[in-house]
Amino acid sequence: MKEKKILVFAGSARAASVNKKLAIAASKIAEESGAEATCIDLADFPADIYNGDEQAEKGIPDSIRKLKQLMAEHDGFIVVCPEYNGHITPLLCNTLSWASRSENDEKTMIAFAGKKAAIMAASPGKLGGVRVIPRLRDTLAELGVMVVPGFVTLPNAMQAFDETGTLINDAAAANAKTVIERLIQTL
Ligand SMILES: Cc1cc2nc3c(=O)[nH]c(=O)nc-3n(C[C@H](O)[C@H](O)[C@H](O)COP(=O)(O)O)c2cc1C
Repeated sequence: MKEKKILVFAGSARAASVNKKLAIAASKIAEESGAEATCIDLADFPADIYNGDEQAEKGIPDSIRKLKQLMAEHDGFIVVCPEYNGHITPLLCNTLSWASRSENDEKTMIAFAGKKAAIMAASPGKLGGVRVIPRLRDTLAELGVMVVPGFVTLPNAMQAFDETGTLINDAAAANAKTVIERLIQTL
């Protein structure tokens, strides 16, 4: 049977991002659970803050065209997002806004149509970014992505990885496995 393909990305471009570390850990869990995981860094897909005038003048940035293509080629997503004042980050919002735009005779929402996702958050705080979870679920749902039940939060994230980047919060790792296996079953 063909392996299910999962695209994994975090809503932070920060070099030392704990959400990027969680995305990498989630990719490993997805691979161990039998999926093919591609972990990307949104820093490699830069785009100006969305402005319709810019799209009308210059079209969709090449970086976003590449990202949309990648998204379309995968069956599902794992989206890991920091909580900024309870919300998703400007980076994730901007990237998803650009990715929702179509051009020429392209099918609408080609990057999102029929996709399933698992959602996660990491924070240095005690609540693990839990307040972003419903916002992230809604954002993806509005784009046509079905988010599987459950979610992962990683509190005290600065202490949650060892020097090799391994997730050493056993409860979060076990929860991530459950949610990722659930995602894979739906693909
Ligand atoms: C503008 C801003 C707002 C933030 N708001 C929250 C918040 O609401 N809850 C929280 O737990 N952490 C909040 N933080 C702290 C982030 O969780 C922390 O900077 C985290 O390391 C960001 O994720 P990253 O390491 O993946 O970049 C905020 C940080 C910034 C810059």
